[in-house]
Amino acid sequence: MRMVDIIANKRDNKELSKEEIQFFVNGYTNGEIPDYQASALLMAVFFNDMTPDEAANLTMAMVNSGDQIDLSEIDGIKVDKHSTGGVGDTTTLVLAPLVAALDVPVAKMSGRGLGHTGGTIDKLEALKGFHVELSQDDFTKLVNENKVAVIGQSGNLTPADKLLYALRDVTGTVNSIPLIASSIMSKKIAAGADAIVLDVKVGDGAFMKTEEDAVKLAETMVRIGNDVGRRTMAIISSMEEPLGYAVGNANEVKEAIDTLKGEGPEDLTELSLTLASQMAVAGGKAKDLEEAREMLKAVIADGSALEKFKVFVNSQGGDGSLVEHPENLPAAEFHTEVVSEEEGYVEVIDAENIGVAASVLGAGRQTKEDEIDLSVGIMLKKKVGEYVNKGDVIAEIASSTKDVSDAARKIVSSYHLGSEQKQTKLIKKIITA
Ligand code: URA
Ligand code: CA
Repeated sequence: MRMVDIIANKRDNKELSKEEIQFFVNGYTNGEIPDYQASALLMAVFFNDMTPDEAANLTMAMVNSGDQIDLSEIDGIKVDKHSTGGVGDTTTLVLAPLVAALDVPVAKMSGRGLGHTGGTIDKLEALKGFHVELSQDDFTKLVNENKVAVIGQSGNLTPADKLLYALRDVTGTVNSIPLIASSIMSKKIAAGADAIVLDVKVGDGAFMKTEEDAVKLAETMVRIGNDVGRRTMAIISSMEEPLGYAVGNANEVKEAIDTLKGEGPEDLTELSLTLASQMAVAGGKAKDLEEAREMLKAVIADGSALEKFKVFVNSQGGDGSLVEHPENLPAAEFHTEVVSEEEGYVEVIDAENIGVAASVLGAGRQTKEDEIDLSVGIMLKKKVGEYVNKGDVIAEIASSTKDVSDAARKIVSSYHLGSEQKQTKLIKKIITA
């Protein structure tokens, strides 16, 4: 087999065989196929798309390029959740204990934030002492005992994806639906869950700018997952504004705790219940979504979801007393109100730009090595659909430096005011096999 023929086939819009795809993935991973040939193939895929079979074969070739996590020692149906990247998205911190409170095992591998989106591990580290460096045995033991544990990303998971993602980043080929779908699904499949619930974000602040593209990405991922024997479903959710009010780390932990108490923001609560219901059904604990939702509301109301969060935090070295006393979470030195210079209804809050503002304050990293400041962040005071008068406070900045004019300017420019009172539809669609 020759790489040049594979490139020419894709250029001519012929379907690649499983063997051709494996040849490419293996050859690129072990360094035999050079970047220029891989780049040419990626660009041909970008223009000519992939069939569902090609996308599934590409996914599995990437899964097989490295280690796979074996969760077979964990009892029950293991359900994982993945979001395509939001701002202020604290749902994992809510979902993990919430679903575990129904005895659905949550064996989660999580990452750190990079760029304008936050990472679950960073947020959890705001709970003093919390760590994710667990051995495979301890991870398994904790999930069997408590039904929930979070581990950091293992070194040799889907090396093909790491290499291809880096190449896509510099060749203008990130935004291809089969390439995004296979990249995400390869990591989820290698991480070992039996069932996968996907949250595909749509809007200005997301990878997918239109609902049509988001649906296509979701359908591609759902099909890949089910084709390879993992029960997979997706919801399409709005990113026309950040989720909830808090964007940062400590403040998002506090928001997750509020939500587990039943006192969280409406949108974060609704998204959490929607995703958790899917997970409960996939995990075999509820016969349908309605029953799941009732069970989830019950474990919020009786305090067992919050108690589960405390057990989970303690089990990984964190200070569980912070769950009852979030006022002791890392606190920033300075608080600055941001006021509106105009008036009107909030129509859109540019989530990406808010994420960048939080990152500038120190809540996020520009490079993998950056240290982040867990105490800083942004609290939105107005959401889409609310009326703002000139001089009204639209957000509050928590910072470790006095001068926050840069972040404040970014926040002001993120608020798009108009004459129309818009309602965002949070959950746009649910895609199942
Ligand atoms: N996230 C991923 O993991 N891969 C992509 O290609 C895009 C988003
Ligand atoms: Ca939030």
